[in-house]
Amino acid sequence: MGATEQPFITKYPTAVPVMGDGPLPVAPYISREFFEREREKVFKRAWLEVARAEDIPNPGDYRVVDIEVLGWSLILTRGEDGQLRAFHNICTHRGNKVAQHKSGNARGFTCGFHGWVFGNDGELKHMAGEEYFPPGTDRCKLGLKPVTLDTWNGFVFIHPQTEPAQGLRDFLGGMADQLDPFPFDRCTRIARYEATPRANWKVVLDAFQEAFHAIMVHRASLPQSAAAAPNPSAALTSVRFHGPHRSLSAWANPDYRPPEVGMIVGKYGPTFATAKDQFPGINPNRDENWWFDINVVFPNFFCDTGPGWYFTYNFWPISENRTRWTMDIYQLKAEHAGGLLAQEHTKILLRDAVLEDFSTLEATQQMMETGVLKHITISELEIALRHQMHIINQWLAA
Ligand code: FES
Ligand SMILES: [Fe+2]
Repeated sequence: MGATEQPFITKYPTAVPVMGDGPLPVAPYISREFFEREREKVFKRAWLEVARAEDIPNPGDYRVVDIEVLGWSLILTRGEDGQLRAFHNICTHRGNKVAQHKSGNARGFTCGFHGWVFGNDGELKHMAGEEYFPPGTDRCKLGLKPVTLDTWNGFVFIHPQTEPAQGLRDFLGGMADQLDPFPFDRCTRIARYEATPRANWKVVLDAFQEAFHAIMVHRASLPQSAAAAPNPSAALTSVRFHGPHRSLSAWANPDYRPPEVGMIVGKYGPTFATAKDQFPGINPNRDENWWFDINVVFPNFFCDTGPGWYFTYNFWPISENRTRWTMDIYQLKAEHAGGLLAQEHTKILLRDAVLEDFSTLEATQQMMETGVLKHITISELEIALRHQMHIINQWLAA
């Protein structure tokens, strides 16, 4: 930037928390002790997104979800009454795992050890050897152990506590207000990507909550789309803080012309690269040259939204330097072959972009672990990293 040029200005429509402007310590990204505190104080006390309700659409449908950071295996299942429930995947007899498959449809679950049978409402329906258990053994109290579950806009969240201090809607607060108009139910999943990088969950998460890196990392897949004069550093157009959550709007170069295939496909349906139309629940500040919103639900879930598509990330810590990352991409249901082409285009473009994102993660972790650097230096372009760390520290102190 020359001496006379003004930097591109990011707007802050909501109050900006007082977070200081110093460098951030490296220790939280590499320390086992810090990770154990996050497990206890953050992950055991937060609403955690685990599925879409449409993944378990019919009575009897179930899905097993493993949550490494809690050391839990859960069964999400829809009962014959249509209700979605979560249970620990553990037999109340001697603790065997009850659901053997990752997903399916069943009226219940038969334990493979001694044959106890649990209904998909969690009740113990058949207690093999019942007559041999001591008098007073109450079958009604031996159902599967329930886990707190709630849904918002089709997103299924669990909470590790039996009685969370805050309900899901309250917890989501302003983030839910912003996203409520988005027609999640008109979209369909078009892809799922998964990886387990050797990197701390915040190293991975941070790589997706700023646009600054586009100037280098995405110069192959999205050249000139996120950074160009007058915004050569890919500054965000606006940033909103919603309690522990945050929403960032990314800038799009108005002069960007996608490669020909993108232009052609973009005529038939929304794509990640070409759709710029108005759409409910996006671009809350009506920013000019807006591209898409990066919506971060604390602690580890993203729901990024654009006109006609959205994609989610989950960042599941496995250890202080291993993360299970998943990405699900959703787009408006296709009404014709052109719509399917648009879906393919989004799917491939995002695949290439996230492959680029992964190019830095393990190297960053490895170098942070050398201990050479005690702090990382953070700009306003990366304010989301500061906010995430600020909220983690608040939860650790509470
Ligand atoms: S452990 Fe399940 S029936 Fe015995
Ligand atoms: Fe990226």
